[in-house]
Amino acid sequence: MIKVQDGNTFKEFTEDGKRIFHKSMGNDMSKVHKAFYYAVMLWNNRVINKLPSRHIRKLFLKMLGAKIGKNTMPARRVEVLFPKGLKLGDNVAVGWFAELDARGGITVGDNTNISSHVKIITGSHDIDDPDFTADFLPVHIGHHCWIGTGATILQGVKIGDGAVVAAGSVVTKDVPARTVYGGIPARYIRDRNSDLNYTLGKLTFLY
Ligand SMILES: CC(C)(COP(=O)(O)OP(=O)(O)OC[C@H]1O[C@@H](n2cnc3c(N)ncnc32)[C@H](O)[C@@H]1OP(=O)(O)O)[C@@H](O)C(=O)NCCC(=O)NCCS
Repeated sequence: MIKVQDGNTFKEFTEDGKRIFHKSMGNDMSKVHKAFYYAVMLWNNRVINKLPSRHIRKLFLKMLGAKIGKNTMPARRVEVLFPKGLKLGDNVAVGWFAELDARGGITVGDNTNISSHVKIITGSHDIDDPDFTADFLPVHIGHHCWIGTGATILQGVKIGDGAVVAAGSVVTKDVPARTVYGGIPARYIRDRNSDLNYTLGKLTFLY
């Protein structure tokens, strides 16, 4: 296998020059299992995620295979594509209307705040491939990060501990720890100056 750096991530090729694509984690399931799992997931995203009970929403996501830490309770209207690929640490806030495409895997560290309307997208396509083949890469977000409202984080990106992504940004490359990045595409704004030992509060009752 040959790895070629492409911006932030690596493209992988076989010895005879064919691109290696990474499949969705859902491809490990049998067709029947996947159909059933996706049907229940649809039910979660259409109905359960609107219920005004943080405990029921959390329980349902866990039943679908998400790993969700202590005091972490996604707000209403959070949509998760493939919850089995989602791992949220302790005291993580996930705001209204966030969209988490976890088909390639998403991990979020403790005390990180993902604001409302954020999109984390692990899927993509090779636009130069004649078959427009899909490709999935994980997104990792460290602890004590703040992802501002409406930001989009694309596949393969790592956001370092304590980093801040400004509202509305599109993050295409790694964000170093304790920096503030913003804009489209997101670029360095400044360093973050704080001790980062706060604990985020639990989502309020009936939120
Ligand atoms: C990034 C943020 C935290 C401000 O950080 P700050 O360092 O205090 O920022 P400043 O206002 O001093 O701006 C610093 C620079 O970043 C730029 N900037 C600020 N917000 C930006 C954004 N969302 N996108 C792009 N650039 C941004 C400013 O234009 C400024 O650039 P300049 O130096 O060229 O003029 C804030 O703008 C933000 O995005 N907050 C998120 C709010 C949110 O999501 N709330 C959710 C509910 S809690």
